[in-house]
Amino acid sequence: MVGQRQNLVLLIFSVVLLFQASNGQNITLLLAKHPSLSTFNHYLTLTHLAPDINRRTTITVLALDNAAMSSVLARSPSVLTVKNILSLHVLLDYFDAKKLHEIGNGTALAATMFQATGVAPEASGFVNITDFKGGKVGFGPADNGGILDSFFVKSVEEIPYNISVIQISKALPSADAEAPTPGPSNLNIIDIMSAHGCKVFADTLLANPDAMGTYEDNVNGGLTVFCPLDDPFKAFLPKYKNLTASKKESFLEFFGVPMYQSMSMLKSNNGLMNTLATNGGSKFDFTVQNEGEGVTLKTRINTVKITGTLVDEVPVAIYTINKVLLPNELFNASAISLVPAPAPAPGPEEAADAPKGSKPKSKTKSKSKAAAADAADSPADSPDDEPADQAADDENAAMFFGAHRFTAVVLSLLLVFFLL
Ligand SMILES: *[C@@H]1O[C@H](CO)[C@@H](O)[C@H](O)[C@H]1NC(C)=O
Ligand SMILES: *[C@@H]1O[C@H](CO)[C@@H](O)[C@H](O)[C@H]1NC(C)=O
Ligand SMILES: *[C@@H]1O[C@H](CO)[C@@H](O)[C@H](O)[C@H]1NC(C)=O
Ligand SMILES: *[C@@H]1O[C@H](CO)[C@@H](O)[C@H](O)[C@H]1NC(C)=O
Ligand SMILES: *[C@@H]1O[C@H](CO)[C@@H](O)[C@H](O)[C@H]1NC(C)=O
Ligand SMILES: *[C@@H]1O[C@H](CO)[C@@H](O)[C@H](O)[C@H]1NC(C)=O
Repeated sequence: MVGQRQNLVLLIFSVVLLFQASNGQNITLLLAKHPSLSTFNHYLTLTHLAPDINRRTTITVLALDNAAMSSVLARSPSVLTVKNILSLHVLLDYFDAKKLHEIGNGTALAATMFQATGVAPEASGFVNITDFKGGKVGFGPADNGGILDSFFVKSVEEIPYNISVIQISKALPSADAEAPTPGPSNLNIIDIMSAHGCKVFADTLLANPDAMGTYEDNVNGGLTVFCPLDDPFKAFLPKYKNLTASKKESFLEFFGVPMYQSMSMLKSNNGLMNTLATNGGSKFDFTVQNEGEGVTLKTRINTVKITGTLVDEVPVAIYTINKVLLPNELFNASAISLVPAPAPAPGPEEAADAPKGSKPKSKTKSKSKAAAADAADSPADSPDDEPADQAADDENAAMFFGAHRFTAVVLSLLLVFFLL
């Protein structure tokens, strides 16, 4: 019996070792033993703080029970705000119950993970720990005007001197940590795309306040962007410039999805996906499809491939795509096959009228203002004169990528390497 138990312990121990990354600890596993801390544990995972904690040693996690977490979540903070708040609860020093009551002179300041992220302005990000008379230990942000109103409840787990988990009575208040985060800020989205091969798209988006505003509105609640790489988007710019203002906005919004989608989510959520340009109905959507190891996005007009991941962290994911994905609503697929590629330039009137007569253009634009603008379109702006150029464009893009596929693959690999 005893021998069996020892074997079991050994087995569990080796399994645990096997699953542990670089360090001895797994905060998720440690907290899993404590149901009253399950919300806290869930959010450590959701905010990706758990791996950051596991990577460190000499650390103290100030855990909050489910009731204390409910108060934190009551104001519906964004995931990033929760991340800031919780990172203020990770002290970069080891304090177990014994050490808390032996603090020299009764008070100490501890740096936190919030401070270490560089998000925290100056003094915020430090926690004051004070051993009051009578054995009560209080915690508060150092910049809280000396108010320490969260108290030591109990020791939860102690692995000296790697990690200590102690429960405190309520969340540490911090205006800085609680401040609504601008997400991985809007500027960052632009910066990230600009720095990783989507500068032309980023600049175009930045120059369109309406579309940019739509992206900004979604950055906190979850956003996935598929940004076309510079060469194909540059080649597409003349067509883009030909679009009306409302179509420009819809077109740019078509490359954003109003929710966070990791690569594995994309792979398991094959099917239609709404975009920021979708506003009721099934307009301005595209189809996500696995293809071999990769993922493609498809409209009736063309298919593009995801070539790289620039960001994949709740609540934002940004991927690069190898071509400009064309929404059905702005570029007509059937017309492409009807019009031979080097089409003899028809007069604007003919070009606009002929297809309209045979196949009435559906005016079901997703946005009312877009519909209004559509009605006012001059023949020159009609999508009906786009397809020929578009077909040629797609061919050009295909040729470009045939020739540069190797370079693209090498660049993507380098990019992935640097991001890791
Ligand atoms: C920690 O444990 C959780 C729950 O068992 C597991 O999902 C996760 O992969 C583990 N993390 C590491 C780094 O081992
Ligand atoms: C503490 O961390 C060190 C360094 O990662 C590791 O070697 C050691 O085994 C850990 N101690 C315990 C008790 O887990
Ligand atoms: C305690 O306070 C004294 C005087 O303020 C100081 O010199 C000493 O370094 C402090 N000790 C600790 C452990 O902080
Ligand atoms: C922590 O806060 C207490 C109470 O406001 C204060 O007396 C103490 O000086 C502070 N400790 C440090 C290290 O700032
Ligand atoms: C594209 O043209 C076809 C017929 O050629 C028509 O049935 C369809 O409604 C058109 N689609 C759009 C979005 O204009
Ligand atoms: C833009 O529209 C004009 C007028 O219809 C047309 O002549 C021109 O070829 C278009 N340019 C592109 C790049 O589509």
